[in-house]
Amino acid sequence: MLVLGIETSCDETGVALYDTRLGLLDHVLHSQVDMHCDYGGVVPELASRDHIRRVLPLIKQVFEQTHTSLEAVDAIAYTQGPGLAGALLTGASISSALTFARNIPVLNIHHLEGHLLSPLLSDPAPDFPFVALLVSGGHTQLMQVDGIGQYQLLGETVDDAAGEAFDKTAKLLGLGYPGGKLLAQLATQGQAGRFELPRPMLNSKDLNFSFSGLKTAAALLIRKQETNAQTRADIASAFEDAITDVLVKKSVTALKTTGLQQLVVAGGVGANSCLRQKLLHHLAETGATVFFPELEFCTDNGAMIALAGALRLQQLNEELPGSDGRFTVKARWNLEDL
Ligand code: KG4
Ligand code: ZN
Repeated sequence: MLVLGIETSCDETGVALYDTRLGLLDHVLHSQVDMHCDYGGVVPELASRDHIRRVLPLIKQVFEQTHTSLEAVDAIAYTQGPGLAGALLTGASISSALTFARNIPVLNIHHLEGHLLSPLLSDPAPDFPFVALLVSGGHTQLMQVDGIGQYQLLGETVDDAAGEAFDKTAKLLGLGYPGGKLLAQLATQGQAGRFELPRPMLNSKDLNFSFSGLKTAAALLIRKQETNAQTRADIASAFEDAITDVLVKKSVTALKTTGLQQLVVAGGVGANSCLRQKLLHHLAETGATVFFPELEFCTDNGAMIALAGALRLQQLNEELPGSDGRFTVKARWNLEDL
């Protein structure tokens, strides 16, 4: 079965084709980062309009690159939520129209389920069950994943998401948007240990996180210091060291608590190499294995949506009706409600 995946939840238009027998055939992506960076963040109305401009050319491109056509597609999976309502509506409406025209099923995919399952695009892939650390711009969660659609929340942030903390601190350091990657680059030039920032909730008895205090501590430090280039790099290094320490400690505890031996890291912050190195180091000591999606599948993309759709389709193991052309989006949507 061939599934077309469409992602338009935020500021990336992603399209992919996933074959249940052959795996991922191809994926294409348009990032709106250059468009939003002048504003220091995503402008929802601009995002929606750009998705409208990009989505059909990207669908055509993925068909051309794979020498296939819409006629060969058995179902379309799109991101129904959570995300920006206007942006989500682009993917929802195009998916409904195409599936209605072809009388094939449409699959409503949860964006975070896409992220959770994205390590299955890699080889070797994890087996169920595993613990997933989901770290994106909008979410920071530890989940126990027992199978497709079987997600149990173990802990989550009580305030800012990890990516949000990276982006806000990057902004305070005078870096562009989105700042996570830029802060990480700056941190490589920093002197480790010159500054010490707090590690909130490191020793709390639960698996929850809190990052707003860390961001405030970084803001106070930036205000107090004479921020020349080296000092900014040193602060970036201290921030990255603190936030990754918390993510690693809680992930290790989640493995211990659940008795599981596999950790999957998903979402944009999963691209952070300091986090990757620390996890590899700490989990080697415990004998557990950590899986990271390929870098291109860490941030938003269509491949993870096509994959989630294909797995859902296989799991249902029954003939789904063709789309009736109606659609809704869910700007807010709890993964556990799936
Ligand atoms: O998953 P994602 O692409 O979008 C959401 O669904 O939120 O994650 C984007 C987030 C942004 O906050 C971005 O700054 C962060 O991931 N990010 C990073 C890195 N690359 C992307 N944060 C830290 N280090 C990186 N290398
Ligand atoms: Zn995402």
